Amino acid sequence: MKRKKIKQLLKQTAPEDQVLIKGWVRTKRDSKDFLFMEINDGSCLANMQIIADNTIDNYSHVQKLTTGSAVAVTGRLVESPGKGQKWEIKAENVDIINIAPENYPLQKKRHSDEFLRTIAHLRPRTNKYGALFRIRSELIYAIHKFYHDKGFKCLSTPIITGSDCEGAGEMFRVTNLEPSNIIKSGETDFKNDFFGQEANLTVSGQLPAEMFAMAIGDVYTFGPTFRAENSNTSRHAAEFWMLEPEMAFCDLKGNMDHGEQLIKTLTRHIMEECEEDLALFTKFVDKSLPKTLKTLTESKFERVTYTDAVDLLLKSSKKFEFKVEFGIDLQSEHERFLAEEYFKKPVFLTDYPKNIKPFYMRLNDDGITVAAVDLLVPKIGEIIGGSQREERLDFLEKRMEEMNLSKKSYWWYLDSRKFGSVPHSGFGMGFERLLMLITGLGNIRDVIPFPRTPGSIDF
Ligand code: 4AD
Ligand code: MG
Repeated sequence: MKRKKIKQLLKQTAPEDQVLIKGWVRTKRDSKDFLFMEINDGSCLANMQIIADNTIDNYSHVQKLTTGSAVAVTGRLVESPGKGQKWEIKAENVDIINIAPENYPLQKKRHSDEFLRTIAHLRPRTNKYGALFRIRSELIYAIHKFYHDKGFKCLSTPIITGSDCEGAGEMFRVTNLEPSNIIKSGETDFKNDFFGQEANLTVSGQLPAEMFAMAIGDVYTFGPTFRAENSNTSRHAAEFWMLEPEMAFCDLKGNMDHGEQLIKTLTRHIMEECEEDLALFTKFVDKSLPKTLKTLTESKFERVTYTDAVDLLLKSSKKFEFKVEFGIDLQSEHERFLAEEYFKKPVFLTDYPKNIKPFYMRLNDDGITVAAVDLLVPKIGEIIGGSQREERLDFLEKRMEEMNLSKKSYWWYLDSRKFGSVPHSGFGMGFERLLMLITGLGNIRDVIPFPRTPGSIDF
């Protein structure tokens, strides 16, 4: 008989004589004559209730089943007289696949997120993390659907790279040299290294994406990115996923319109497709989640310049740890004040001073600011970082000189400004940060299967 998923069975409109499910025991209550079990197979939050009476062959063995054990159950799907579920299975046969010992760590009580991080290999078996990782999966699908519907092409940009996109020097070195051979006569021996030059894990797929946007039009790249920044915060991971659209013939305004539409569409998709899983987060994680989601989907995102934002911060009576003045890189306390307390909704900040932004951003006519844009959201701060790109070859070369970047090693990037250069824009959205926003979870370590953060690479 073909196995059915619990999600599918619970949606059924009529009883069925013979069904087969496979899953793990969440709870069991037994008496001499019959027993109840709740089985979960991961397909949805809800369990399937099983009733077995002592007429089944191996009743005494089934009575020994523990939480976490694996079973296959065949029986009749019947309407459940009990509260809370429409259907249950009257077991005719219970196959024991594996009995979990009594020291299975996930017994029926609530565990802290901190504890569950220490058993990240088991936490997806809890209701909360099962729900989270189903939502994560659905969100990945929603991203591809959004772009497919818009006619964007999905681009797989390299993970190992020879260039530094952000110029922040926060890269992980890739080498196959023996540690003892890396430094020869005081110099790093890149010549003998695998690629014959310095190589790193990518911090962004933007530069390759730009090349393709100027060829096959609108593209997006969505994959893992790596940052060796030693910031031990709840919003930074060393390995995280970034979504990066890149659009030819698009200016800063078009870029913001796109970002706003993206976040609204993805949030709506999850609200519609993951209603049950999402409700768990409202109940146990963040009571204000429905309000957050309403704001994300229904409010018009604010748009202000960096300069105006700095004025707002200066005029506010709030005491900040870091001093505010024009030219500073805004700290998370500033970003959160703007999104959370001042505007109380997502806000695009534009036109940052060029000195705190990477080389590729388009210089504004004032000669001081660039066509940068960050999207700040309540509780998280920056979720999107992007810009209109500098499409003018002479401006770009001048900026690279100012920033001591080698034009020789970026020859291919500069080529795109020589041959058919056009205005274009794009941004990067931190995928885990979006997941935090949509679920209300406060720590990036809890929205990625196996988090990589400073000093921690278990599992
Ligand atoms: O603002 P960032 O650094 O932008 C770029 O890398 C551009 N090249 C993107 C582009 O224009 N195509 O990073 C983009 C986003 C941030 O807004 C943030 O959401 C996320 O990536 N991010 C991180 N997420 C988790 N952990 C980290 N360490 C992150 N660093 C950035
Ligand atoms: Mg940024």
